Amino acid sequence: MTPTGTLDALLVEERVFRPAPATVIEANVKPADLAEAYRLAEADHLAYWEKAALELEWHRKWDAVLDDGKAPFYRWFPGARTNIVHNALDRHVHIWTKNKLALIWEGEAGDCRKFTYFELYREVNRLAGALRALGVSRGDRVCLYMPPIPETVVAMLAAAKIGAVHVFVFAGYSAKFLRERLNDSKARVLVTADGFYRGGRCINLKAVVDEALPGVRGETAETVVVVRRTGDDIDMQEPRDLYYHDLLRQESPEAATEIMEAGDPLFWLHTSGTTGRPKAVVHNHGGYMVGASHTFRTVFDIKPTDIHFCTADPGWITGHTYGVYGPLLTGATVILYEGHPLYPQADRLPTIIERYGATIFYATPTLVRMLMRYGPQYPKKRDLSTLRLLGSVGEPLGPEAWMWFYKHIGRSNCPVLDTWWQTETGMAMISPMPISVLKPGSVGKALPGIAADVVDDKGQAVPPGQGGFLVVKKPWPAMLTTLEGDDAGYARDYWERIPGCYFAGDVARRDEDGYFWIQGRADDVLNIAGHRVGTAEVEAALCAHRLVTEAAVVGLPDKIKGEVAKAFVVAAPEWRAAFADADAFASELRAHVRRELGPIVVIKAVELRDTLPRTRSGKILRRKLRAEELGQALEGGTGEEE
Ligand code: PRX
Repeated sequence: MTPTGTLDALLVEERVFRPAPATVIEANVKPADLAEAYRLAEADHLAYWEKAALELEWHRKWDAVLDDGKAPFYRWFPGARTNIVHNALDRHVHIWTKNKLALIWEGEAGDCRKFTYFELYREVNRLAGALRALGVSRGDRVCLYMPPIPETVVAMLAAAKIGAVHVFVFAGYSAKFLRERLNDSKARVLVTADGFYRGGRCINLKAVVDEALPGVRGETAETVVVVRRTGDDIDMQEPRDLYYHDLLRQESPEAATEIMEAGDPLFWLHTSGTTGRPKAVVHNHGGYMVGASHTFRTVFDIKPTDIHFCTADPGWITGHTYGVYGPLLTGATVILYEGHPLYPQADRLPTIIERYGATIFYATPTLVRMLMRYGPQYPKKRDLSTLRLLGSVGEPLGPEAWMWFYKHIGRSNCPVLDTWWQTETGMAMISPMPISVLKPGSVGKALPGIAADVVDDKGQAVPPGQGGFLVVKKPWPAMLTTLEGDDAGYARDYWERIPGCYFAGDVARRDEDGYFWIQGRADDVLNIAGHRVGTAEVEAALCAHRLVTEAAVVGLPDKIKGEVAKAFVVAAPEWRAAFADADAFASELRAHVRRELGPIVVIKAVELRDTLPRTRSGKILRRKLRAEELGQALEGGTGEEE
């Protein structure tokens, strides 16, 4: 890469970085291929995606590439049959990738386990057999409450293999959250672990499960499969709780793969919106598989020799798409790390890169900013010369962190792929490719086959340089198919805000070259360290406290986490009798939110107020609170329109 500006002028956005000649020569998608891809996608959107689908194996081909008869309930590849696990795993056992490493896992203590495709295949088959023996079949949900360990990948694939739908609940969520997801999904089987290690501590996950289960309804979670990870003493309740390893011992390493319709659900994943409850985004076998595989091969430029280090937990969409499915669909080797990224010190991630010779490092801006805070001496201690690509996702990276990442992790030698996408999109949508000219702080151009645009509230494209709503004007294969149990909400939230367009919920601008610059969310959704947190969810959690009458939550800028939450609370007068002072009450409220939602939702500050500002129609004026907090005038009047 050759910078055409100076490295030190950190805030000048005009700098561009051109790809090194070797990157261009070796890329899977060379400049002529990319030009052809844009041409084809432009001329014939469906032909472009059909070509991508033909890269994979199908048990029956589609009757049409897209059925848009019931838009926005688009059906990709109707009539086609497959199972994503056939392409991610089964297929490899008959080709040269059979004995290639699929998964390298490192525990926080430095312990390591490796699985070839063949070994992973056999382990998945055993669990698939065990799940079948427990009565799980096609269409049933299997809930996963798992830490980042190999069995997590096995459980996702085993569920998918037998046609069940996996519903992952990130291990940082609370017992209450898990209980609600179990009740929503009616999953009869829950797969979990005794615990895991993070930040030098042993986290007892099974204790959270035990707290969640008394409130579940009917046959939900009638079986709990427990992976022994830490070996700690846990309560095992017979006959409900079964150890994973005992269960698998009897099982055959062969199991049939259920052949699914392309549109059959593969997983649900919950994400925050503007209401008090997270929504369950549904992804399917066919379209999601095409999107995940195609973008991983083209954007991440995957080669047989690559070792991809994805820092995302498998429980997030990034973990699903580029930590599990994308890499396996393309026969890559992926690294999964269990623990805290700075444990025992700030060179942990560089040490992992060095130890396994990672070639691609996919991280988040928060991680980059954490590494930045500790300084370049940590990555400098490690040999990072194997790296050839860097990736970022989840929140705006910004020019300063971009430059640091590029210079100190990428040794000014690796393209930074800042990928914009969402739980709902299933796959990267706007991103540079390795051969792209890069602009620090920009997520690059829309990928071929992705009709992204920036528009005003009527759907009219805004001129270059002007802010507007980020939309996608044509369907794409890995798109969410609906919100589980809420077809109307799916249509309303995503397709009716701006007629005919998918509404992403982000504000962005596009420059003269067609590069997108993401400015943040357009709605009441916070992005704390790359995690989506709905202000309404946190407010509902606060209001569940017996001493809280009203609450409003706003996001404030933070140097490391990008954004943090501040709560404004109107309390019942009895709080004074119950707590020594406002600080003690605020600590209790912060702990309460943590109990309700889990450790990932951290409230930075709590302020007691007598009243909250509201519009004439009674809606809380969060924008006013935020503007006051930042010492700004409120733009656009009082926000009566809110
Ligand atoms: O606001 C955008 C931000 O993260 C949101 C999606 O969050 P989630 O569904 O949790 O998925 C995150 C991982 C795919 C988006 O609406 N976002 C995602 N990627 C970027 C980003 N903001 C800026 N730059 C990005 N590269």
